[in-house]
Amino acid sequence: MSTASTGRTTNQRLLTWIDEMAALCKPDATHWCDGTRGEYDRLCALMVEGGTFIALNADKRPGSFLARSNPDDVARVEDRTFICSRNEDDAGPTNNWVDPDEMKARLSSLFDGAMRGRTMYVVPFSMGPLGSPIAHIGVQISDSPYVAVNMRIMTRMGQQVLDALGDGDFVPCLHSVGAPLEDGAADDPWPCHPEKYIVHFPEDRSIWSFGSGYGGNALLGKKCFALRIASAMARDEGWLAEHMLIVGIESPDGEKTYIAAAFPSACGKTNLAMLIPPAGFEGWKVWTVGDDIAWIKPGPDGRLYAINPEAGYFGVAPGTSMESNPVAMRTLARESIFTNVALTDDGDVWWEGMEGEPPPHAIDWRGREWAPGANGPAAHPNSRFTAPVTQCPSLDPVWDDPAGVPISAFLFGGRLSHGFPLVYQAFDWRHGVYLAATMGSEATAAAVGQAAIRRDPMAMLPFCGYNMADYWRHWFNLGETVDVAPAIFRVNWFRKDDSGAFMWPGFGQNMRVLKWIVDRARGRIDALESPFGLVPRYRDLHWKGLDYPAERFGALMEIDRGAGVADAEDQRALFGQFGARLPDEMEHQRRALAERMAAAPEVWRPDE
Ligand code: GTP
Ligand code: SPV
Ligand code: MN
Repeated sequence: MSTASTGRTTNQRLLTWIDEMAALCKPDATHWCDGTRGEYDRLCALMVEGGTFIALNADKRPGSFLARSNPDDVARVEDRTFICSRNEDDAGPTNNWVDPDEMKARLSSLFDGAMRGRTMYVVPFSMGPLGSPIAHIGVQISDSPYVAVNMRIMTRMGQQVLDALGDGDFVPCLHSVGAPLEDGAADDPWPCHPEKYIVHFPEDRSIWSFGSGYGGNALLGKKCFALRIASAMARDEGWLAEHMLIVGIESPDGEKTYIAAAFPSACGKTNLAMLIPPAGFEGWKVWTVGDDIAWIKPGPDGRLYAINPEAGYFGVAPGTSMESNPVAMRTLARESIFTNVALTDDGDVWWEGMEGEPPPHAIDWRGREWAPGANGPAAHPNSRFTAPVTQCPSLDPVWDDPAGVPISAFLFGGRLSHGFPLVYQAFDWRHGVYLAATMGSEATAAAVGQAAIRRDPMAMLPFCGYNMADYWRHWFNLGETVDVAPAIFRVNWFRKDDSGAFMWPGFGQNMRVLKWIVDRARGRIDALESPFGLVPRYRDLHWKGLDYPAERFGALMEIDRGAGVADAEDQRALFGQFGARLPDEMEHQRRALAERMAAAPEVWRPDE
């Protein structure tokens, strides 16, 4: 089958690659996605017919669909994710590595005939504004129509991308669910393969993904391209590809300050990206630029500028409600795809944490009868919605600007129940990079088989496409090359008291922390020095509209000497993995922390 006569592109490398992959995967047909509405509707109808999609009630959830995955294909598979650089050391100790030639041989036999009985979709997509100098183009081949329609929401996708590509360079992204249909066999609503491979070749800048149809395993523009491959490109070219949300914070007098914040998966990026200022913050506004990924580059004025390379949200559904995130609820009110949530009797969706009483009856994410209190959660904990950013009521008008937005502060936050304060600021850039690198967090449902608590440097542990020690060096260096480095902060919304309750109300109330961060980043307010870093006194936060006693704030900000000493000691294991590649600065910073902790009082609290 030759594709040379499609008239869609004359890009010889692309045409040759498509021909080669078709010859390998042996699909029944090839479909070049044009990205039109008509095509989207036809693919959705096809999936409704085949049982992959359930059309939701057109009055309650217009233009929306529900998909239920195979119960063995519900999240990213970190133990099946590989960085196949030529040299094992270039992948580093935090990534799985296999020799690229060996991996290509293994994958070639898996992909051989993998698309039999199926259509091969060719999905051209742009990460970043089309045709902009900071955007990058990928082409995904996939045998999943679910992937094709999700990619139309998550990226700028279609013929216009091929037009912008011309004869230029693209990242080839090959994907198969790994479930060929032999001789007219009936299809599964969610085809997949028990053996999964999510593979990156950073030197070739190519991606091969086999066996999964879910999220970051299958929507290859997201984690595989925009983080793992892009982080390696960014190292070579002097920029950053980060697991960060981007927001603009506007004060009542119209001053806008942009911050970018890294949190591990399912730790609150979407919530913070769509924050509505609480009572007491009249006239303030938070603008959404991105909720998951930031590409950050030095601008002509010596500052760092960030863009959101995506065009949609692939957000965690459970816990999303009109109370916790009304902006998200409005964003997903229509024209959205839901995966692994529950189906109500009136044809709408439901998940744990949506407000009101649970429905008396529903069909759960596995397609089984469900009633409250029986049979586990109705929605899978990693169930997600796919919705276009253009439906977000707080979308920043500049979200699509190729120049990006100037970043004044970076935030890094894990999910830590114990021993970690609400907020503190790094003494300087190098200290900040160290704080980000040593971040810890508790496991969430976004990936299968994680350790209960782990170090997740910059929230990039599963996403850094090269040796993490080199990545830290790159971060240290970048701070030297810009004229105005953003201020760096650690935050933690998740501290719990002895009864297991969250000590901080979080969500919209995080605005109080953001305001202090803006004041600090703009150099408007002084701070108190703690053994960890620079912290606010009680009186430095804006408390109007919230009754939060100074005594509780003291407990929330508490630093325990024993815990701090133990943490500095524990970081040796993290750093020890990297041998000579570890930047010396990391160990300097670790020792400095150990010394500050040794000299600290047993329990440190900010004065009032
Ligand atoms: P990925 O899309 O997986 O990268 O994650 P994300 O960081 O965008 O996750 P998301 O915003 O969907 O995180 C949702 C989880 O964080 C839910 O369990 C929320 O209840 C919780 N969460 C978000 N903000 C807060 C907060 O301020 N306080 C508390 N306690 N929980 C929060
Ligand atoms: C994450 O796990 O960080 C996500 C969801 O944003 S996925 O796209 O599946 O990786
Ligand atoms: Mn994410």
